[in-house]
Amino acid sequence: MRIDFDPETMGPVPFYKLLTSTIVPRPIAWVSTVSGDGAANLAPHSFFTVAAVDPPIVQFTSVGRKDSLRNVEDTGEFVVNLAPEALFEQVNATATNFPHGVSEFEAVGVAQEPSARVKPPRVAGSPVALECVVHGTLGLGNSTVVLGRVVHAVVDDEVMVDGHAEISRLRPLSRLGKNEWGTVGDVRDLARIRYEDWEGRGLEQA
Ligand SMILES: Cc1cc2nc3c(=O)[nH]c(=O)nc-3n(C[C@H](O)[C@H](O)[C@H](O)COP(=O)(O)O)c2cc1C
Repeated sequence: MRIDFDPETMGPVPFYKLLTSTIVPRPIAWVSTVSGDGAANLAPHSFFTVAAVDPPIVQFTSVGRKDSLRNVEDTGEFVVNLAPEALFEQVNATATNFPHGVSEFEAVGVAQEPSARVKPPRVAGSPVALECVVHGTLGLGNSTVVLGRVVHAVVDDEVMVDGHAEISRLRPLSRLGKNEWGTVGDVRDLARIRYEDWEGRGLEQA
């Protein structure tokens, strides 16, 4: 038996809760920006993914008008830092609704370092940073999708194994439903099957 849900009759908040508890796990972009007058800002965004390959574009969504969005609109730049398990408490604390102009880097005590190509600083303790220039924004009701072209990326050499960023060393956090967070669990390796090799490999229906 399946339970039906109708967004029209449920209303936006209960349906949002259904979406965020079923679209899981979501990677977390720990987004750093600066305001027009130079104050740094840092906030987690789990509505985040790769948007395009060539050019390399990533996207995150601001639900409502938050400081990160305001800064992106004012300056046209942001950095996506990977949210590492080692900084769990700090990632969460940067989601506190500090007033505009208060730097979460300073309020929470997150060490920063200069970026190579953009003004917003990087999180020094994060193993990955993607420096982005805004490609465009898309307003969708009360939300705004921010698209950013990655103009520079840095990865800690300690997480690289044979030229590949190793998941067991990256240890990214993810967002689940409610106030739940995920950490990396069981990792499996399975190559994609080419059609030329498909013959006789039909899988049993579960
Ligand atoms: C793990 C996590 C993920 C979040 N994802 C989003 C998101 O995708 N979009 C959003 O608008 N807010 C998201 N939030 C809430 C913002 O981080 C929070 O509103 C923050 O105060 C925004 O900061 P700012 O005003 O400095 O931009 C998330 C919070 C947490 C803890």
